Amino acid sequence: MAIEGKSDSHNAGRIRLGMVGGGRDAFIGGVHRIASRIDDRFELVAGAFSSTPEKSQASAADLGVAADRAYGDYVEMAKREARLKNGIEAVSIVTPNHLHYPIAREFLKRGIHVICDKPLTSTLPDARKLVKAVEASEALFILTHNYTGYPMARQAREMVASGLLGDIRLVQAEYPQDWLTEDEQNKQAQWRTDPDQAGAGCIGDIGVHAYNLACFMSGQKLEELSADMHSFVDGRRVDDNCHVMLRWQGGAKGMLWSSQVAPGNENALKVRIYGTKGGLEFAQENPNQLWFTPFGEPKRLITRGGNGSGEAAGRVSRIPPGHPEGYLEGFANVYSEAAEAIQAKRSGGEIASDVVFPTVYDGLDGVTFIDACLRSSKRNAAWVKLT
Ligand SMILES: NC(=O)c1ccc[n+]([C@@H]2O[C@H](COP(=O)([O-])OP(=O)(O)OC[C@H]3O[C@@H](n4cnc5c(N)ncnc54)[C@H](O)[C@@H]3O)[C@@H](O)[C@H]2O)c1
Repeated sequence: MAIEGKSDSHNAGRIRLGMVGGGRDAFIGGVHRIASRIDDRFELVAGAFSSTPEKSQASAADLGVAADRAYGDYVEMAKREARLKNGIEAVSIVTPNHLHYPIAREFLKRGIHVICDKPLTSTLPDARKLVKAVEASEALFILTHNYTGYPMARQAREMVASGLLGDIRLVQAEYPQDWLTEDEQNKQAQWRTDPDQAGAGCIGDIGVHAYNLACFMSGQKLEELSADMHSFVDGRRVDDNCHVMLRWQGGAKGMLWSSQVAPGNENALKVRIYGTKGGLEFAQENPNQLWFTPFGEPKRLITRGGNGSGEAAGRVSRIPPGHPEGYLEGFANVYSEAAEAIQAKRSGGEIASDVVFPTVYDGLDGVTFIDACLRSSKRNAAWVKLT
């Protein structure tokens, strides 16, 4: 397989990037900063890194962002950056879920591209409003469902779409973790277990990743679901374990398990897809591998860049097979797809057809899934349609 991969030829005119959230002690903001720089197509120049101005200033100093581009408030940041000659062209939103919509709205209405983390929003009404805000804006919206950036997830999607699996019968997904097995009081746990900030518990935090990746790889759309959600830890106000049965449009079936109370599981996201002609199995903790079994034949291990690895994987690979690429490179692929799209917009050109990134509609689908799980579980796991 040829690794077309990433070259340095795109780097002229880095995209001026801002960030909301991601200050000192935050988790995913740092990942976004690394991901934005792996292919050297973005430059962080401004931010409202924290809800307190002092911490935002301190974080800016840590990151080498000029003091006059460090804001105590994201509305002030959006207004001033939109007026500056060399203001930001894009903003990354890496705050707790309930802030995604109000923050995105401020930047979108000023024509600033938004790269936002999942879930799209903490409520379905906010998700619908955010779709409208994107549709009313000239700016792009990219959702960092980062697992779609893995070369072997792209490979799986290409194999399913080409018909190698035949008609799809089963799509199984799971994302168990163990870090919330007991009451946990760190910064990340605090807002995640508050329904007003998070929207839902593990289904919104990680179940939605499993759902998104299952849809991305299989090309399936969900028709209805039955969800049994539970909170095992005393006093916890959001779900920490969810079993969801799935009926896909077109007749395929599946199950989705999401848990944050399963000791021994770190980030055990898996998607398995079975059709009339064969099956695929992908585990994100071994992201350079994809198992393919043509029915009646021995299982085959396809490795990133190895024999059988195709164009879709090659496009988003950087180094030869056997040298692992992982979480950060997969995340970087979402950023680099965003860069392709933003630079095409900048030069008035078309976005190339092979550029793939999760959109606001994928985000709406994810929040619709979460909302349907909550509705179903309240009714003792009744079957509900995705509306
Ligand atoms: N894609 C992934 O794999 C992935 C992984 C982890 C988290 N996430 C998502 O990223 C988001 C952040 O999660 P996290 O774990 O980094 O949380 P975190 O608590 O570590 O960080 C949140 C940051 O937002 C800041 N913040 C809060 N209110 C703010 C405001 N009004 N203005 C500016 N900054 C503000 C906090 O100060 C903090 O810096 C969540 O939506 C989460 O679902 C995605």
